[in-house]
Amino acid sequence: MSDFQAWATAAQARTENVLSALLPPPDIAPQRLHQAMRYAVLGGGKRVRALLAYAAGELCNANAEQVDLAAASVELIHAYSLVHDDLPCMDDDDLRRGKPSCHKQFDEATALLVGDALQTLAFQVLAKPEAFPDARQQVTMIHLLTQASGSRGMAGGQAIDLASVGLSLTQQELEFMHIHKTGALIRAAALLGAHSAPLQDETRTRALDHYAKCIGLAFQVVDDILDDQADTATLGKTAGKDAEQNKPTYVTILGLERAKALADELHADAIASITPFGEQGQRLVQLADFITGRAY
Ligand code: IPE
Ligand code: IPE
Ligand code: MG
Ligand code: MG
Ligand code: MG
Repeated sequence: MSDFQAWATAAQARTENVLSALLPPPDIAPQRLHQAMRYAVLGGGKRVRALLAYAAGELCNANAEQVDLAAASVELIHAYSLVHDDLPCMDDDDLRRGKPSCHKQFDEATALLVGDALQTLAFQVLAKPEAFPDARQQVTMIHLLTQASGSRGMAGGQAIDLASVGLSLTQQELEFMHIHKTGALIRAAALLGAHSAPLQDETRTRALDHYAKCIGLAFQVVDDILDDQADTATLGKTAGKDAEQNKPTYVTILGLERAKALADELHADAIASITPFGEQGQRLVQLADFITGRAY
């Protein structure tokens, strides 16, 4: 196992434990909602956003227990976004993380409430009184996550995605959609990891932010490529869904080869922006490789 694989496996296991402890136990009322929340969050997912938070936190010498909260809050928002994304009124997908989607395993109303409850839990985790030593820093973190999740972030991107079915977007319009629906939360993951540290260096935060912006967009370019190229068993979600639903993607707008070239360009741009970190930026370099080189 490479050093990166060992680090990522440990961070993924840590994320699972932190999330499990933060989620309401399955046996307290309302049991069915709590069971569905745990079903949607635990036991799957690459935890890319948590890994980014941990890597950024390590880079900035943050306290690991505080990065735990940052990582968990982003994963909770992400899990909620997936539950809603799979609903019949959105992508109507029956498979997620190799299991029936939340609304299939439970029911639509429960899935809707799972999303609602996971979203509030994410902010509850970040807002816990005295979870961070500096109240101003804590409010900054909460604010960052609200922006990344709301109508100027993920939810807004999802609205554009749904409004774009059957349309041929320009590359610029597609980029705007992807930066919002996926990029915003990935960017927030890295920034929240960095903001978990007591002191921020503005130049370093700006470099990290540029890295996260590039890798966030690259993430969705690769998601579009995999939707077109990979199979359902590998993806753990229904392959070919974008074409089936007539969604504009990087593959439909640019073609496969140019989409791959764009992912490589964004990867290179991400890495270039963190060269000032030298050896300390190694985890972020490895994470960029993982994000663009992944098979699912
Ligand atoms: C899938 O995200 C949804 C997108 C934003 C493209 P991931 O590929 O990170 O999903 P999990 O968490 O690993 O299941
Ligand atoms: C969803 O994008 C992004 C979210 C905000 C959940 P996709 O619809 O492409 O995600 P997948 O492919 O279903 O995971
Ligand atoms: Mg979608
Ligand atoms: Mg989808
Ligand atoms: Mg997709």
